[in-house]
Amino acid sequence: MIRTSQRKPFRATVTVPGDKSISHRSIMFGAVANGTTEIEGFLPGADCLSTIRCFQQMGVEIERLSETAVRVRGRGFEGLKEAASPLDVGNSGTTIRLMLGLLSGVPIYSTLIGDESIARRPMKRVVDPLRKMGARIDGREDGRFTPIGVRGGALQGITYESPVASAQVKSCLLLAGLNAEGDTVVREPAQSRDHTERMLPGFGVELEANGTEVRIKGGQTLTGTKVRVPGDISSAAFILAAALMVPGSQVTVEHVGLNPTRTGILDAFRMMGAEVRTEITAHWCNEPVGNVTVSCNDLHGVEIGGALIPRLIDEIPILAVVATQAHGTTVIKDAQELKVKETNRIATTAKELRKLGASVEETEDGLIIEGGTQLSGGHCHSHGDHRIGMAMAIAGFAASGDVVVEGTEAMDVSFPGFAGLIAQL
Ligand code: S3P
Repeated sequence: MIRTSQRKPFRATVTVPGDKSISHRSIMFGAVANGTTEIEGFLPGADCLSTIRCFQQMGVEIERLSETAVRVRGRGFEGLKEAASPLDVGNSGTTIRLMLGLLSGVPIYSTLIGDESIARRPMKRVVDPLRKMGARIDGREDGRFTPIGVRGGALQGITYESPVASAQVKSCLLLAGLNAEGDTVVREPAQSRDHTERMLPGFGVELEANGTEVRIKGGQTLTGTKVRVPGDISSAAFILAAALMVPGSQVTVEHVGLNPTRTGILDAFRMMGAEVRTEITAHWCNEPVGNVTVSCNDLHGVEIGGALIPRLIDEIPILAVVATQAHGTTVIKDAQELKVKETNRIATTAKELRKLGASVEETEDGLIIEGGTQLSGGHCHSHGDHRIGMAMAIAGFAASGDVVVEGTEAMDVSFPGFAGLIAQL
């Protein structure tokens, strides 16, 4: 349980744990590379630990040198062995979707399972194109849901026009494409996060990435490398939002990933009138890294939609919280993907914010939030969704009474240490 309450203006400089998307990929790519991969700044969150366990089950030697340093001794795709029990991805959509692609071209059998939330999340978006490549996959309701089994074998490259802008779909197919015959091309309606495209060349893989189209040649192998993981901008968003909830506050998050496919939330905050300053100080593994400073100004409502949505998809719950404090109406549209996240985030965001007296309307593809409300105290629940739990805890910063959030163990999925960090602000 976390209890938060109205804050006095604060100034702080903080760092946040490593990027979840990059941490997953560093383990997966390292596990199928030839040679050793050393990872620094790894996110020791529950989701990434699930990825480590899955590959350990397949015989890959993965050592935690410290909380955030990991050594992976890969022996190529051939080094993966059949696991004696199902691979349990826990709550992690990225783990299961990327692994389905990776395993489709490796000649072993695997069963993948996860928690209750994973059991509700759609797998057809990857199973359909993988089957087109020749993958042998079966699962509950014809492979729509977990448990899901994959018997890896020969694959053919395809050109796939994805109906959704999803980095999980794109990355899944690119990983399958590594073991396919010929080229695999993935096109998406708007560009999703491009960490796979940025990281694979560091492992010696050649690919062509061109905004919404990526092409990869089959039959490539990976070579172990060093990976330094930047702070997760999705975690930083909660801290930046905290400053925006308390007039007169300013916060800087250091060493955070500033990949443009992820910085949509900074653009949204700017559109609302916040002062947001970024400074790129380095590039780690082809990813821009730097500092972000946000100061609280008078905020106003905005309309968010289109190609901006994939660039801030995970930040919409916290954006909705900030919107309750802006003058005027905020409209979030084209975000139907929220319905198939860890929870239906259109429903859970609206339900939890209403408990604090916010005026929030659910639409088919987003939310409409009437700003300028004085939030009240209340009793909220994470619904087992890390980002819903953290968003509600930050809402307490502007509430007239105490906000109590239950189900806080979910926060460990992406942001271990969240409670301690916000207590310091
Ligand atoms: C992720 C992609 C996104 C995002 C998720 C992580 C990734 O999901 O929401 O938290 O690491 O590839 P979708 O691909 O479903 O949009």
